[in-house]
Amino acid sequence: MVILVTGAAGFIGYHVSKALMDRGDRVIGIDNLNDYYDVALKRARLDNLAADGGDFSFHEVDIADRDALFALVESNTGITHIIHLAAQAGVRYSLIDPYSYVRTNVDGYLNLLEASRKVEGLEHFVYASSSSVYGANEKLPFSIEDRTDRPLSLYAATKKSSEMMAHCYSHLYRLPLTGLRFFTVYGPWGRPDMAYFGFTQKILAGEPIDVFNNGDMRRDFTYIDDIVDGVINCLGTPPVDDGTPPCRVYNIGNNQTEGLMDMIGLIEDALGQKAEINMMGMQAGDFKETFADITETERDFNFSPKTRLADGIPRFIDWYRDFYSI
Ligand SMILES: NC(=O)c1ccc[n+]([C@@H]2O[C@H](COP(=O)([O-])OP(=O)(O)OC[C@H]3O[C@@H](n4cnc5c(N)ncnc54)[C@H](O)[C@@H]3O)[C@@H](O)[C@H]2O)c1
Repeated sequence: MVILVTGAAGFIGYHVSKALMDRGDRVIGIDNLNDYYDVALKRARLDNLAADGGDFSFHEVDIADRDALFALVESNTGITHIIHLAAQAGVRYSLIDPYSYVRTNVDGYLNLLEASRKVEGLEHFVYASSSSVYGANEKLPFSIEDRTDRPLSLYAATKKSSEMMAHCYSHLYRLPLTGLRFFTVYGPWGRPDMAYFGFTQKILAGEPIDVFNNGDMRRDFTYIDDIVDGVINCLGTPPVDDGTPPCRVYNIGNNQTEGLMDMIGLIEDALGQKAEINMMGMQAGDFKETFADITETERDFNFSPKTRLADGIPRFIDWYRDFYSI
């Protein structure tokens, strides 16, 4: 397989690219290396990919730059699959810089859909959606049949728009498209803007941590290795064009909902240090609980998450200490 991976310098893109190369695939990675979070971490991921010994090429391309993206795709003949992970991620930052979300997650995504029409023999285009599309949905666990037309943040709205644009392109051009709604992905090489990462940084620095909604939050935390298995299994099973648009959406979560305070306790145990906690109210755009119903994901591509939060958090802490030499 020859796979174009967007967001290859990102958390999930790095792990997915590595796993694809490890099984002998050719990976063409693109990323614009923006400074939403520490660029040195993105570069370190890329250095690791380059040193991996696999078939990897990297191109610093902004997917919102249509000409650059089209030129890249046209000059790389033989692409068989696309894994689109590049995005402006994060719920909270979408209240600060909403335009960056539309630029990458809507305009950039459209560019990628248009570029994919030029790829002869494209077998499957898999893209990242998010659990945040469930927005004001209160029914648990979240099923792919549930309403997703009430987003609580612009981030969620752009992710929902990806799913709708996918349906449209699949209908019009018969592109095989699968959207994966990721649920709070964590693990080594993770994202510094996410709570578990920030808590670790602050606890080690002896600084207090802000805990929103007075700690009364629950998340379906999904370990990165399980996500990688899910993405790769999905990639190999494109939707069939049976007259309806070959277009699907799946939940990809751990199928367990865990308390935020329990997660903090696991970090404290792994660090051997107690957190000083600032209890705060609910943040705008945020939601209290996520919980993935993965019935279809298990059925259609054997998705079977194996990692408990109690095992995954210590692995993240081990990586953190090693990477930052602590
Ligand atoms: N990590 C999670 O918990 C989670 C949850 C739900 C959905 N997602 C989605 O999964 C995908 C990957 O997330 P991640 O956690 O790896 O995030 P990440 O921020 O680590 O990775 C995204 C990468 O995309 C790149 N990028 C951003 N804008 C770009 C642009 N215009 N052109 C080219 N590259 C650009 C960034 O530089 C970054 O390296 C994203 O689409 C995200 O929205 C992640």
